[in-house]
Amino acid sequence: MKPKIIVTRKIPDSVEEKLKELFLVSLNKNDLSFDREKLMEAMEHADGILCTVSDKITKEIIETSSRRAKIIANFGVGVDNIDLEAAKKNELIVTNTPDVLTEATVDIATLLLLSVTRNAFHSEMMIRLGKWKGFSLVNNLGMDLKGKTIGIIGMGRIGRSFAKRANQAFGMKVLYFNRSPVKDLEFEANVRFDLDKLMEESDVISVHISSGKDNKNFLSKNRLKKIRKSAFFINTSRGDVVDEEALTALLQNHEIAGAGLDVFRNEPNVPDNLRLLPNVTLLPHIGSATIETREKMGMLALNNLLAFFNKTDIPNRVV
Ligand code: DGY
Repeated sequence: MKPKIIVTRKIPDSVEEKLKELFLVSLNKNDLSFDREKLMEAMEHADGILCTVSDKITKEIIETSSRRAKIIANFGVGVDNIDLEAAKKNELIVTNTPDVLTEATVDIATLLLLSVTRNAFHSEMMIRLGKWKGFSLVNNLGMDLKGKTIGIIGMGRIGRSFAKRANQAFGMKVLYFNRSPVKDLEFEANVRFDLDKLMEESDVISVHISSGKDNKNFLSKNRLKKIRKSAFFINTSRGDVVDEEALTALLQNHEIAGAGLDVFRNEPNVPDNLRLLPNVTLLPHIGSATIETREKMGMLALNNLLAFFNKTDIPNRVV
């Protein structure tokens, strides 16, 4: 008998087809998010769950008394949606989908970098609203990237690749904050172990740390205050690593120049006072949203499930 897999969201057709060949699959064709009860039910009725960042797999859900599921294959690299401690304690395997989304996410960080430093999305909106007053030599001026300093917070796969892109494509100098110095970089970069120093020295700050309880509010109000008035802030990691209210206040008061955000604290709700600011570019968590990347992520999740049920080495085991 094939193992039963419950898939919590709509996934690419090619991945669905492959899953159906290998497992007994329950798909979510209408793509409505599962609530707490449905997630509990899924845990009770499936051998494995294929879920994603929008599914909050809490301790309560993991500890549901009649749990049948032995593995959660997360369709995503970030696993902050899953209570990993509870998973470990309850011997529930958790896997993720690293590597394959690095370049797509760096593309979105690049889009935000260009958009905020050239005020592109806001200017585009002015045209759409019929508010463009015509060419000007002094209005709507942005900031050159060449020779400016980008401060990368977190030199994992994505941080490192974005640092390289900023340096090699745009001629930016790179500073980075990381627990330990990164070896074998193929571009010039200087480490700052004091995060405040990096914040003070950078023209653009880009966040690439994972979420989780240690990193909640890592970019606290006090830390954000270190950002230069002329500098820009980019986040493509997770919303809860930043004090969103404090960031909004800095933007409102023009204490920093602008922000490009692809992630938010309470998705899909973005507070009005942030949404209405002209000096931000806001994207709806689309870092990995390309056809190719989503197919690769789906196939990784599937391979993790397959390896588990075939009792072979699980390629991307987190817990
Ligand atoms: C991830 O994989 O963590 C992304 O944020 C969602 O695609």
